[in-house]
Amino acid sequence: MIIDRRTLLIGTAGGVAGLTIIPAFGQVPPLKKKDHYKVGFAQTESNNPWRLAQTASMKDEAAKRGAQLVYTDAASSAAKQVADVNSMIAQGVDFIFLPPREEKPLIPAVMNAKKAGIPVLLVDRNVDPSLAKPGVDFLAFIGSNFVLEGQRVADWTIEKTGGKGKIIELEGSVGASPANDRKKGFDDTIKAKAPDMVILASQSGDFARDKGRQVAETLLQAHPDATIVYAHNDEMALGAIAAIEAAGKVPGKDILVVSIDGEKDGVQAIVDGKLGCSCECNPRFGPAAFDILYKYANGDTIPPMIINPDRFFDASNAKEVLPTAF
Ligand code: AHR
Repeated sequence: MIIDRRTLLIGTAGGVAGLTIIPAFGQVPPLKKKDHYKVGFAQTESNNPWRLAQTASMKDEAAKRGAQLVYTDAASSAAKQVADVNSMIAQGVDFIFLPPREEKPLIPAVMNAKKAGIPVLLVDRNVDPSLAKPGVDFLAFIGSNFVLEGQRVADWTIEKTGGKGKIIELEGSVGASPANDRKKGFDDTIKAKAPDMVILASQSGDFARDKGRQVAETLLQAHPDATIVYAHNDEMALGAIAAIEAAGKVPGKDILVVSIDGEKDGVQAIVDGKLGCSCECNPRFGPAAFDILYKYANGDTIPPMIINPDRFFDASNAKEVLPTAF
């Protein structure tokens, strides 16, 4: 057996006779060609339609490809998600699909998989790029351009209101890449293009409907002059709509609500005139994620960032897309 400068013998990571050769540094672990793989999918939580749609897509595709799927649900805990990935490593999966709940706390999980010789594909959320890199520490990131989603919602809102309004922002989970990026995309666009608009308050609703409703209730009481609610996902927008109605105001008339995802209840709220727009964030990752796994095993070059194209929904097309929304 020849060991060059880029390889290192590890005695505990599984493989033939308990020995696996993995790259020492600077390289994503290789993946052997097989017809059927044992793969891990470490989901963040299952408390909203987006997550359920993503899980269904991954499970359907695993079944189609004859893969053995080790599925876990971190129940909104980054610490549990790290433990879930560690358990997948111990179970000897060939490949891990990971939507990291938050950008920093999931770094150890990514690095542990790399050390164990298991390639990781980040699906939908990213990790802090200064701490772990695609093409080096993990195979690649596949997902939406979250900054662009925030920009598109801001552009639509500016156009709709003539660049005037007082905004309450409901942020996603603290430390999650879509929360950071959707805030940046929206806030920077408002600042650059709409000097007469102001963001009155911005607080996390954890991407959850009820938390979004509670936070919106508090912020609407503190800022009765608000005319716009920007929510980082449809679930929080739906919570905000409930809070606006409970305050005796009319969503879509007294207060414009705008958001991201394009889930069925969100698109229905557009049809009902309660939600102004929703930038799509497509959760159906299964086919593309498994294509990447097979391409990688085949020796194809995998781009470090693979961006899903997102559509945009408002009153002009909501009825038409409703039947296919998740
Ligand atoms: O990472 C994507 C986001 O996570 C979706 O917008 C949200 O609904 C989900 O929880």
